[in-house]
Amino acid sequence: MRTPQVEPAAGLPARVTIYEVGARDGLQNEKSVVPVEVKAEFVRRLIAAGLGTVETTSFVNPTWVPQLADAAELLELLGDEGRRRNRPVLVPNERGLDRALASGVEAIAVFASATETFAQKNLNSTLDGQFDMFTPTVKRAKDAGLWVRGYVSMCFGDPWEGDVDIAQVVDVAVRLMKLGCDELSLGDTIGVATVGQVERLLAALQERGIDISRIAVHFHDTYGQALANTMAALRAGVTIVDSSAGGLGGCPYAKSATGNLATEDLVWALHGAGVETGVDLDALVETSVWMAQQLGRPSASGVVKALAGA
Ligand code: HMG
Ligand code: MG
Repeated sequence: MRTPQVEPAAGLPARVTIYEVGARDGLQNEKSVVPVEVKAEFVRRLIAAGLGTVETTSFVNPTWVPQLADAAELLELLGDEGRRRNRPVLVPNERGLDRALASGVEAIAVFASATETFAQKNLNSTLDGQFDMFTPTVKRAKDAGLWVRGYVSMCFGDPWEGDVDIAQVVDVAVRLMKLGCDELSLGDTIGVATVGQVERLLAALQERGIDISRIAVHFHDTYGQALANTMAALRAGVTIVDSSAGGLGGCPYAKSATGNLATEDLVWALHGAGVETGVDLDALVETSVWMAQQLGRPSASGVVKALAGA
């Protein structure tokens, strides 16, 4: 397959850690339930393609996200491959943590909302109330020696509330980090962010003492801005980027959320700019083509379309 012509670009890190969310954020929005064996094969192929961190599934209320109700079964199928510090699972509350611990996970991610309305829609809670779930969950997870990520959703715009006040986002992020999260991921859940917002939020978080090495960015691509926003974040010092193989994804509780930044599009851009990712792009494209066949529709990724079609 074709590779990008390499031309190092100024202001980018030498290496980027990709946090792959295809198996969780990618699949959670699929209407028809994907067989658990297919999910396991997807995760194994992502790992084989060189993706260091792979978020595998969610231990949420199964009636809220039936697609991922098979979380325990999936981890059973994955065996030791699914129980590592770089295989996080989503956990909203202590019930989810109990289930995750019973499956032997070593890393979890809690997910907060920066807005009142999304806290209600996604967590059946309030902005303050969500911390009543996260506080004991994170404490128990840390006591058990787990690695913990904290997501903040709706950082750059909310489908019900419109613009989101940056102070509100910073407040939620600081509260999450104070609970003891090891990493913070800034979610553009509905893909509306633009580069100036990204720069301003990153600066504001650092002013509040959050180290840039602990901040990840998570852009959905609804308005086609995900890669531009990611590059802006990398130039501001971020080195951890969330993306989804083939551009799968979306949040079932935010209608305007489409797929995440496609991992292939990210890898093409980074390898072209001389940035290391450890990812084998050919193997990843083959994985996304295979997954597209399982789902019965073509990948949304421009790079997958170009390379697989060539
Ligand atoms: P709830 O229904 O209000 O929960 O859900 P509850 O505490 O009232 O409990 C009701 C029943 O659910 C009880 O069972 C609980 O045990 C059970 P009963 O006593 O009636 O038999 N229950 C659970 N069962 C299994 N696992 C659990 C669990 N929790 C309760 N974890 C809750 C509240 C937060 C659980 C619910 O709202 C929920 O699961 N929400 C998750 C929604 C979701 O997964 N959204 C997508 C992920 S977020 C996202 O995609 C954004 C992100 O990508 C970043 C970005 O893009 O911005 C991360
Ligand atoms: Mg997401």
